[in-house]
Amino acid sequence: MGWCVELLQAFFLVADDIMDSSVSRRGQIWWYQKPGMGLDAINDANLLEACIYRLLKLYCREQPYYLNLIQLFRQSFYQTEIGQTLDLITAPQGNADLGRFTEKRHKSIVKYKTAFYSFYLPVAAAMYMAGIDGKKEHANAKKILLGMGEFLQVQDDYLDLFGDPSVTSKVGTDIQDNKCSWLLVQCLQRATPEHYQILKENYRQKEAKKVAQVKAVYEELDLLTMFLVCGRWLQPPYGSH
Ligand code: IPE
Ligand code: MN
Ligand code: MN
Repeated sequence: MGWCVELLQAFFLVADDIMDSSVSRRGQIWWYQKPGMGLDAINDANLLEACIYRLLKLYCREQPYYLNLIQLFRQSFYQTEIGQTLDLITAPQGNADLGRFTEKRHKSIVKYKTAFYSFYLPVAAAMYMAGIDGKKEHANAKKILLGMGEFLQVQDDYLDLFGDPSVTSKVGTDIQDNKCSWLLVQCLQRATPEHYQILKENYRQKEAKKVAQVKAVYEELDLLTMFLVCGRWLQPPYGSH
């Protein structure tokens, strides 16, 4: 079951790095940029997904929880894909309107793109395997796990810009990609008209100088303190995908 969850994660990350034009992942250049690979990586992503159902069949076909596991994986794929859709349509290239970057939108993006598959899926799989399949038990677990998942993505958004790439083993692209990042949402809630103007002119662009201008606004508004308040019960090292 651990392998199935990892294969699902690998599928999403191979695809996500293509969509986000990422540079590196787990300390290596992204799969899509390997010599001779290019968009053939899409087929590798599909193979990773197919392996999940092959493993489930091989090891769980005779079990009473087989159908529940298949449905759980199907449902998690759907929810994550909806989350990725929301993430992408909230980050249109070249659109300077900052009005869509609200806390409410951020919460729905991260609930769907991260929390279901990273937190509810593995625990729910274990629950089904242990014979716990009641609606109420799953709803209770989901409530706690989705909150944890939301916070994982807040950390991921924070580390995208402020994390040390030698620790996170990836290089962030949220500012360049016009993403509805937790940092941007918090920043907009505190920005003066001058800050707002700087964000409008420099967000969503690739030039290092423009990224640095956005970062300077975040630092001026002390988003590090906001982040530490948000996760006050946690100790570093923080996690990301
Ligand atoms: C993607 O979120 C979540 C999924 C893989 C579905 P991000 O796009 O923020 O993930 P990173 O930062 O590239 O790892
Ligand atoms: Mn990404
Ligand atoms: Mn990220």
